[in-house]
Amino acid sequence: MPGGGNLVAFDLDRDGGGPLYRQLYAGLRQMILDGRLASGSRLPANRVLAQDMSLSRNTVATALQQLLAEGYVETRRGDGTYVASELPDAGPERRRPERPGHDPAQHYGLSRRGRTLAAIPRPSMHQAAAFAPGPDINAFPFDIWSRLLTRFWRRPGRDLAVSSDPGGYPPLKAAIAAYLGAMRGVRCEPGQIIVVSGAQQAISLASQVLLDHGDQAMVEEPGYGGIRGALTAAGLRIALTPVDDEGLDIAAGEARAPLARMVCVAPSHQYPLGVVMSLRRRLALIEWARRRQAWILEDDYDSEYRYAGRPLAALQGLDPTGRVIYVGSFSKVLFPSLRLGYLVVPPDLVDPFIAARRVLDEHTAMLAQPVLANFIDDGHFAAHVRRMRRLYAARQQALLDVAVKHLDGLLEVRADEAGMHLIAWAGAGLNGVMDDGRVARAAADAGIAAAALSTSYVGKPQRRGLMLGYAAHDETAIADAGQRLAAVMAASVTS
Ligand SMILES: Cc1ncc(COP(=O)(O)O)c(C=O)c1O
Repeated sequence: MPGGGNLVAFDLDRDGGGPLYRQLYAGLRQMILDGRLASGSRLPANRVLAQDMSLSRNTVATALQQLLAEGYVETRRGDGTYVASELPDAGPERRRPERPGHDPAQHYGLSRRGRTLAAIPRPSMHQAAAFAPGPDINAFPFDIWSRLLTRFWRRPGRDLAVSSDPGGYPPLKAAIAAYLGAMRGVRCEPGQIIVVSGAQQAISLASQVLLDHGDQAMVEEPGYGGIRGALTAAGLRIALTPVDDEGLDIAAGEARAPLARMVCVAPSHQYPLGVVMSLRRRLALIEWARRRQAWILEDDYDSEYRYAGRPLAALQGLDPTGRVIYVGSFSKVLFPSLRLGYLVVPPDLVDPFIAARRVLDEHTAMLAQPVLANFIDDGHFAAHVRRMRRLYAARQQALLDVAVKHLDGLLEVRADEAGMHLIAWAGAGLNGVMDDGRVARAAADAGIAAAALSTSYVGKPQRRGLMLGYAAHDETAIADAGQRLAAVMAASVTS
């Protein structure tokens, strides 16, 4: 990068501050000493520095010679000037920016909300190891993606480079609406779609537009931490609502939180238990929302991955009263770092949602939106989903096979018609009981990523098991990790 390097900014005193080369030398030295110019980083070319600071190139060269002579910078042949990797000892002048102690909340004087957010535990997991959750990014057609990216961005027009629709790039909204109508039974016009950076932002936006600070929102227990976090960040109080074999139990939820004004629910495939909500419960949920004038946030995060049977249409399509806000995400179906998702809001709510969006962050970054619109319109999305369905179905079968062969008695793993992970329950050899946290830790020590189901509970875990993601791992990796998990479990049973 000719002329590139760090940005340098400080003021020079041009009347009476002493020679300019000396001031430049002292300023750069101070930036190096206090870490603003990090060891090993590149300084701007002399020409650029001279221009930026309105100095002659001679002045700059003299200052840099002085820094070079004292060992603060070093030159690399033909490649400019770098901050030295080993700095000379400069005694007390070498000040580092103050670092927070053990309690950043105290150090920075965080708000009560800030402290709450900082204290929310974040799961950490070796992402590449089986059975970490998520899609197989190696199977994503990045060649097509990058071709589209170049096509749109080589010479973008105003519609891309100066977008003004806070709801999202219009062709993407049209593509999403067509897809949802055909595949998910969602009834919507493109204007009802609001493109956001994932389900968490969708929930955050809906909470801010529809509810007040301190209002109660029901969430599934066990459930997805990302949703609980987004609701907490919006200042809502969370009411844990049990999930049984028919899905979220709205009657139990209402008994516990009669004033709740919202419920977040994944009726197509509950996370993490995989339950599909029964029609009876769906109707009860819609009736609750109508009666209480409350909102249903339908999280349809992985509905594309269904391997058998017919998918139940989305709740949104069943609701005659306009109380359902549908939330979709491309994190699972494409790749997680894409950070693109969307809301489908009832027609009357489009304007307030758009108005809120304008003040919060204007709109979602435009870079990926035309690419995704074209990816859908040209059939690449449908082709990818079809390919992944076959791939993931075979991987689920590989997990079931290794469970029968090596985990029999230790873990009981049942097939699921949808999704990207299975839950392994304690088997008969363990009398149906296991400390899933302990097993997960022992597995992690052996390089196996098996999350404990109990981490999906906020309250006392009612059920324990291991969440085994299979989508991102090929059959060999699944068979190998399954056998190693059996060895870990056998050792922990006897210890
Ligand atoms: C239940 C559930 N909802 C939604 C999402 C997607 O969230 P986002 O779009 O913010 O990545 C996930 C991803 O893991 C999930 O598990």
